[in-house]
Amino acid sequence: MRWGWPFGACLAILARMPPETADELESKGKAAPFGRSISRMFAILWRQELKKWRLRMALALLITVVAKGLSVIAPVFMGEGINKLTSPAGAAGEGLVGSAASGAGLSFVILFLLFAGARFLANALPAIRDAFFTAVTQDAQRLVSVDAFQHAQNLDLQFHLTRRSGALNRIMERGASAMEYLLRFLAFNIGPTLVELVFASFVLAALYGIQFSVAAIITVAVYALYTILVTEWRNKQRRAFNAADTKLRGVAIDTLTNFETVKSFAAENRESVRYDGAIRDYNQHYIKIMQSLSVLNGGQELIMTAGLLAVAIMAGYGAVNGTMQAGDVTAIILMLVNIYRPLNILGWAWREIKQGTVDIEKLFDLMDTKPEVADAPDAGPFAPGTGEIRFENVSFAHEGRASGIDDVSFSVPGGSFVGIVGPSGAGKSTILKMLFRFYDPANGRIIVDGQDVREVTQESLRKALGLVPQEVVLFNDTLRFNLSYANPDADDAEIMVAANRAQLGDFIKSLPNGLDTRVGERGMKLSGGEKQRVGVARAILSDPPILVLDEATSSLDSGTEEEVQAALREAARGRTTIAVAHRLSTIANADIIIVFGDGKIVERGAHRELIATDGLYASLWRRQTSGDEAATSPIHMEIAE
Ligand SMILES: Nc1ncnc2c1ncn2[C@@H]1O[C@H](COP(=O)(O)OP(=O)(O)OP(=O)(O)O)[C@@H](O)[C@H]1O
Ligand SMILES: [Mg+2]
Repeated sequence: MRWGWPFGACLAILARMPPETADELESKGKAAPFGRSISRMFAILWRQELKKWRLRMALALLITVVAKGLSVIAPVFMGEGINKLTSPAGAAGEGLVGSAASGAGLSFVILFLLFAGARFLANALPAIRDAFFTAVTQDAQRLVSVDAFQHAQNLDLQFHLTRRSGALNRIMERGASAMEYLLRFLAFNIGPTLVELVFASFVLAALYGIQFSVAAIITVAVYALYTILVTEWRNKQRRAFNAADTKLRGVAIDTLTNFETVKSFAAENRESVRYDGAIRDYNQHYIKIMQSLSVLNGGQELIMTAGLLAVAIMAGYGAVNGTMQAGDVTAIILMLVNIYRPLNILGWAWREIKQGTVDIEKLFDLMDTKPEVADAPDAGPFAPGTGEIRFENVSFAHEGRASGIDDVSFSVPGGSFVGIVGPSGAGKSTILKMLFRFYDPANGRIIVDGQDVREVTQESLRKALGLVPQEVVLFNDTLRFNLSYANPDADDAEIMVAANRAQLGDFIKSLPNGLDTRVGERGMKLSGGEKQRVGVARAILSDPPILVLDEATSSLDSGTEEEVQAALREAARGRTTIAVAHRLSTIANADIIIVFGDGKIVERGAHRELIATDGLYASLWRRQTSGDEAATSPIHMEIAE
């Protein structure tokens, strides 16, 4: 059984949830977010990767327990010391501890030294523990972060398209830091306080009487309940306060950024009044949360003091009746003060723990999300061959769309050049994405070199495919980083050869920082055509057996396009190439041209055949080349002998 469940169970009780252990709930398959995510978090510490920290974990637990033991025992030494001082002639053997140690003739000095030593260790040991346990929490945090990061990357395209990446990143970040402070609060604050309460109850009962244990437990229970209830109430106020805070900032920033508008309407005073109103509102909420904080702190003090008073009076009666000495009264009160002290952060801790559980639950939800496109359990590596591709009766519709690709079949012989054309939205990019397994077909199969793409690993399949996408998106890094992404081992000379072939060499040379130039977020500092040429250079550099071009040169002027096309034709030699194009001249020399319309193939054949058929392709061709004398010949293609 994992050692996390007791904490989870304790908190579940505090949270007024059914007091079932996480394991029971798991076996029933019932959702128990609170207890379950806490125990799952502690289970992470038990993972093989963190095995090297187990000694530290055990030591940290041991130190925590020892420190709490010393914290409970220190007041007993103090009490005995006082007993020595107050009992007639310092007679040994009358105090409770003294009776055990009377033979040694412990003087009050020794007892006070013991008190000081125990007290010091009780407070210093946790600090030492924190210093060496930080490495463990950091490593656990790293493990969880990398896991989540890896998992998020493995999720399918559809998942990423429907989630904002900022939100995804926040889930990972918050989840990982929640793990850190939940560990801290639960393992080293709330948990040990409960341990201390248990120790102290035993010591109080054994040395002074069961009534003192009962009083301590009741006080802590009432204190905890009060704190949680008031904190829940305050959370509502806090939310309202946060809203007022956001509004106030909004007003200030809005006015300052729109200052031209404000000035042109001579509305400065109006804006000041609006700002004043927002501050007043903010102040009202601030006053409320400060007042409720006083209610919380005042109530907590009242409960603690009442608990102490009750215990002091009981102990006082004991002293009057002669069953106790003055030192015992002191010891009991000191012990209770020790237990109560860490409780003063309970309200804050409660809020953080609740928030932390929500954050970590979201992280675990992410980890539990199964990708829709996943490797088959028995998937082997893709074995590249001649690069033959077959689509067999493939149908697919995007989520939330009624129509899509409908029963499409075509084959691309190894080493051939296939052009795909068709109106915008016909499904051309979707066909290419299915080849990469970004989506799986609803029906039919896609076969590459005799292997169903669903039966090989995605990684090995994609390594055999090179893509110049319709929209090249770049990393916010240098040109070198982006170009060599396809082949991280490439040196500058190789990168420049590829860049030259993609007609990007002169541009790079013209930059003061050359390959070290940063391209800005998503490559925003490059023009559309430059980005496309980075995409082309990347594909040339990666040297894949199958080259897939989705409108690879659509943003280029016709002169540059011709040169890039020439480079692509050269790069395509000897390998299978599928090219999607709107500008028909770029695919007119393809071995086969597939004409798509509305998710279906409407025509197929070589350029000349399609022109002869005089169908959709021929009419598109005429439109694009109207005014051109050689209206039936490709502009710059070899086939126009
Ligand atoms: N992730 C998506 N979710 C829902 N619908 C999508 C998604 N991606 C594409 N579509 C839709 O699927 C259809 C085909 O899109 P696709 O990108 O394949 O067209 P295309 O033929 O490449 O067009 P273009 O020539 O404009 O690039 C379009 O109607 C598009 O709106
Ligand atoms: Mg497209």
